Amino acid sequence: MRKKIVAGNWKMNMDLAEGIKLAGSIDKYFSEKPAEKVTVILCPPFIHLAGVHEVLKHGRVALGAQNCAAEASGAFTGEVSAWMVKSTGAEYVIIGHSERRSYYHEDDKLLNKKTLLAINSGLKVIFCCGEVLKEREDKKHFIIVKRQLEEGLFSLTSEQMDRIVIAYEPVWAIGTGLTASPEQAQEMHKYIRDLVKEKYGSDCSKKLPILYGGSCKPSNAKEIFSKPDVDGGLIGGAALKREDFVGIIEAV
Ligand code: 13P
Repeated sequence: MRKKIVAGNWKMNMDLAEGIKLAGSIDKYFSEKPAEKVTVILCPPFIHLAGVHEVLKHGRVALGAQNCAAEASGAFTGEVSAWMVKSTGAEYVIIGHSERRSYYHEDDKLLNKKTLLAINSGLKVIFCCGEVLKEREDKKHFIIVKRQLEEGLFSLTSEQMDRIVIAYEPVWAIGTGLTASPEQAQEMHKYIRDLVKEKYGSDCSKKLPILYGGSCKPSNAKEIFSKPDVDGGLIGGAALKREDFVGIIEAV
């Protein structure tokens, strides 16, 4: 049985005081819930990681970063390495988010390098994939996701795959209010699981958590999360408000 995961990607929102306040209230809510059912992860901006860790460190809410550098250390002004992320108390890092792919031109090769560095630094990776609208309209969405996984992820060993969570985020659903239908999400999640099964075998594919992301809200989360290959969500806008994020956790 795979455990469900709800991860909040705060993107470039909230100052430190706001972030600490939100993290504190999520931690309080979650500490009153029974253990085991769901893993909750908060992914604030780099600069808030250590402060938010102070709030979360005695509880069960995990911490993650939204990115890390493609180099281990050295003269890379402005960059933040995977090891630095790990040293803040974070357990996870998001890699390959579509905003990184499109605005910062991060390609599959670079994302593969980041993924390996993150894993070798002791982090778990939430690896994002997903097609843009035109690719779906042209019926190329499966080919695109396959390429992203083969080139970004499939150089990993089976042991390294144990540290991976995949997030399928159709780009046309991110921040647009348009969600993939539960059937569209299930179809792609099953496709991803089958690809992993082909490459790594059925044990690995059965264990692998695959999250859905893109305009998830309390009102649509339950239906999407009820699909057999959807193991939870990577949440953007709705992770910024306590009631919405808690509503999504409740939907699991
Ligand atoms: P929204 O939930 O705001 O659509 O964002 C999803 C996302 O990009 C999470 O990483």
